[in-house]
Amino acid sequence: MSLAVPKVELHLHLEGAAPPEVIRSIAGRKHVDLGPIFDDDGAYSFIDFPDFLRVYEQATTVLQTPEDFAQVTRAVLEESVANGVIYTEVFLSPDFCGGGDLGAWREYLAAIAEAAAQAERVHGIVMRGVVTCIRHFGPDRAKPIARCAAETAGEFIVGFGIAGNETVCAPRDFAWSFDMAREAGLGLTAHAGEWAGPQSVRDALTDLGVSRIGHGVRAVEDPALVDHLAETGVVLEICPGSNIALGLYADWPQHPIERLRAAGVKLTVSTDDPPFFHTTMAWEYKRLADAFGWDEAAFRDINRVAAKAAFCDAATRDRILKQLENAA
Ligand code: ADE
Ligand code: ZN
Repeated sequence: MSLAVPKVELHLHLEGAAPPEVIRSIAGRKHVDLGPIFDDDGAYSFIDFPDFLRVYEQATTVLQTPEDFAQVTRAVLEESVANGVIYTEVFLSPDFCGGGDLGAWREYLAAIAEAAAQAERVHGIVMRGVVTCIRHFGPDRAKPIARCAAETAGEFIVGFGIAGNETVCAPRDFAWSFDMAREAGLGLTAHAGEWAGPQSVRDALTDLGVSRIGHGVRAVEDPALVDHLAETGVVLEICPGSNIALGLYADWPQHPIERLRAAGVKLTVSTDDPPFFHTTMAWEYKRLADAFGWDEAAFRDINRVAAKAAFCDAATRDRILKQLENAA
C-alpha cells in the first residue's frame, strides 16, 4: 500500500517544527549560547512535558527577527512538501514574534506570509496561520495576542487557539480572548485533553466555543464525552507521535486514536512539533498503518475530514478537496 497520499495537516507549531540545524545555525550567526538543549546527535533533548516546554522556549529565543521566522517557515514548508502535505495550518505565536506588540507582529507576519506565498508558488503547498496564545503565560498576556489575531484576520490568518501547559489556568480564563477572536471571524481551536482529562475537553467546548480540539485524546476516558464528540462533529487534531514521545501512551497500539475513530469521532492526524518527537507526516501514517491496519482509504477519509475542518475560506477548501479527490 502506498501512503504517498496527499496530506492535510491542521496542528503544527511553527517554532516546534523548526529543525534543530536551523536553530543552531541562527544561534551561531548571532553568537547565542542556547545551553544544553540538544543531545549528542544534535536532536532536541528533554525528559518530560515541562522540560519539553522549557527546551522549546529556549530554542525559540534565537528567533529574534522577521527574517529568522521566514527562514524557519521556509525550512518547515520544505519538510511538509517532502511529506506530501498539500495544506497546512500552522500555529503562530505573537508572544515569540514581538511579545504581543501589534506593530511588531505585523512585521513578523508579513515575513512569514511572504515565505509561505513563495513556497506555494514553487511547490503548490498552501499554508494558513492560526494565532496561538500560551496558557501558562496567563490570561492577561493572551489578550494582546487575541488582538493581534483579530487585527490581522483575513486570507492568511484564519484561526485562533491556545497551546501550552494545560495543567495551569482554566479555559474560562481565556474566554475574553476567544470572544474577541470569534467576533473577528476566526476559527477556534484549543489544546485540551492532552495533559488533563475529559473535563478539560468539556470546558474548552463549553467555555471557549471551539469547533476543534488540539489532541483531545483523553476524551476516550469518558464514554459520554466520546458520544458527544461523535454527535456534534467536533474535530480532534490528533498527534499520536507527539503523545507517545511525551509519554502519554507507552506505544502506538496503546494510542486511543483507533478507539475514537471506531466510535465515530471526527479526527485528523498531525505532527505537532515534528523534530522534537522524531516524526514526520509520512512516519505518522506508516506507524498508524502498522498499528491499526489503516489503509489508503482510511487515510483519504482522514484527509477529507481535515480539509472540511480547515479554517481557510471556502474557495481554498474546495480547491484542496478537489486535489484530494483527483489523487484518489
Ligand atoms: N506547544 C507545542 N507543543 C505542545 C503540546 N504538545 N502541548 C501543549 N503545548 C504545546
Ligand atoms: Zn500542539
